[in-house]
Amino acid sequence: MTRHLFLLTGAGISAESGLGTFRDAGGIWSRHDLDEVATPEGFARDPALVHGFYNARRENCLGAHPNAAHRALTRLQAGFRGEVTIVTQNVDDLHERAGTAGVIHMHGEVMRALCAACGARWQAPRVMAPADPCPACGRAATRPDVVWFGEVPYHMDRIADRLSRADLFAAIGTSGQVYPAAGFVAEARAAGARTVELNLAPSDVAGAFDEVIVGPATRIVPAWVDRLLA
Ligand code: APR
Repeated sequence: MTRHLFLLTGAGISAESGLGTFRDAGGIWSRHDLDEVATPEGFARDPALVHGFYNARRENCLGAHPNAAHRALTRLQAGFRGEVTIVTQNVDDLHERAGTAGVIHMHGEVMRALCAACGARWQAPRVMAPADPCPACGRAATRPDVVWFGEVPYHMDRIADRLSRADLFAAIGTSGQVYPAAGFVAEARAAGARTVELNLAPSDVAGAFDEVIVGPATRIVPAWVDRLLA
């Protein structure tokens, strides 16, 4: 019997909502230089460029709607007889807007702002700029509350605890290329969990999973949730 379900979601779950993925053909990292827009060094060099990149992503997010896969996870959370942990690498808020509660955003949230000087956090305005003062300390050190390459993802202690107790682990719409999230499947397996990948096509790391379910998230996630709740 499955008592603790651990779900890791990635850009693929939001793809059919119109938010691009990173590493697919034509993906975000084929159009933007990751070193310039998603590292602390890039932000130090050109904060306006980085704010512009995340302003565009925030705008996309505001114009997008949750899809059937996000909604299926809300249904799973409500109907599953046991604990459900949902960790996302996504900075969008589509899980929340689909009604899922308690989602752990390990890579932060594009709708939130962070002061690099004092650590205050607040709801991001639609457009952020380098000169924006922090509402708490007044310094112009505001940044999107997202985790950049070279930074430590959020909530890692909580995630490690949940992984150690998982008996079913599922990775949904993620390429498994970015650590530490890419290592979760091995951690869950070491803890004794069965592991499932749900993806448009088997990822390069599909061999690490006990089962691979292939297809668009809006089709395969609701069907998989039906199975789990049956
Ligand atoms: N349904 C299911 N899976 C899909 C769909 C879809 N409709 N469309 C694409 N995918 C799959 C792709 O096949 C790919 O394996 O989603 C995956 C997306 O992979 P990436 O673009 O690498 O995104 P992700 O794994 O979330 O990236 C991890 O990298 O740059 C960072 O911080 C960023 O959080 C992100 C992290």
